[in-house]
Amino acid sequence: MDNAVFRSPQKRGRIAVFLSGRGSNFMAIREAVRRGEIDADIGLVLSNRADAPGLLKAREWGLETLFLDPKLFASREEYDRAIVGEVERRRIDLICLAGYMRVLTPGLCDAFKNRIVNIHPALLPSFPGLHVQQKAIDWGVRFSGCTVHFVSAEVDMGPIILQAAVPVLQEDTEDSLAARILIEEHKIYPAAVRLYFQGRLEVRGRRVFILEHGA
Ligand code: GRF
Repeated sequence: MDNAVFRSPQKRGRIAVFLSGRGSNFMAIREAVRRGEIDADIGLVLSNRADAPGLLKAREWGLETLFLDPKLFASREEYDRAIVGEVERRRIDLICLAGYMRVLTPGLCDAFKNRIVNIHPALLPSFPGLHVQQKAIDWGVRFSGCTVHFVSAEVDMGPIILQAAVPVLQEDTEDSLAARILIEEHKIYPAAVRLYFQGRLEVRGRRVFILEHGA
């Protein structure tokens, strides 16, 4: 267990968003940045997919984008090493994974310890992995939701920052439950990033404490 205490920096920062798909969480973060609710700029939107709608949207909005083609790299390690270089070159403070469909290598996680966050569409530690809305329905749980957490090398298991719960209804399909959860994702992801740059997140072991403003 890691005993070091980490406190997020209180400063204007630079965010990189990593995505592979439609990018609705990226858009929610960008909207909060635009409204001045998050004290940061988006310095990079990176994707492993050239045609990711979120990447195209970012380009349209004039943000700096980067498509890194996994086929051009011999290994996952090499791919992630290239990412570390690109992110460091742009002096990024926080990486927000937003539907980024690649497992990060330990090298990438270590390079940005306490500086990578993710949104997951279930109440972790229940239902890590993929297709988790369907899994929640199949298990008959009465509540599911979403989790924003710090990223560690163990997939979906880093310290939890914020969660929101929604009911699982008897008539739910994977799509209807996913849509209900997504509404909450768009609230708690920007809220967590806001707290980060307010210097209000303190990580002790696997717990994250939310500090009072100005504490
Ligand atoms: C979201 O459900 C998120 O929780 C998961 O991937 C999905 C991404 O959706 N990690 P979007 O691309 O942000 O719309």
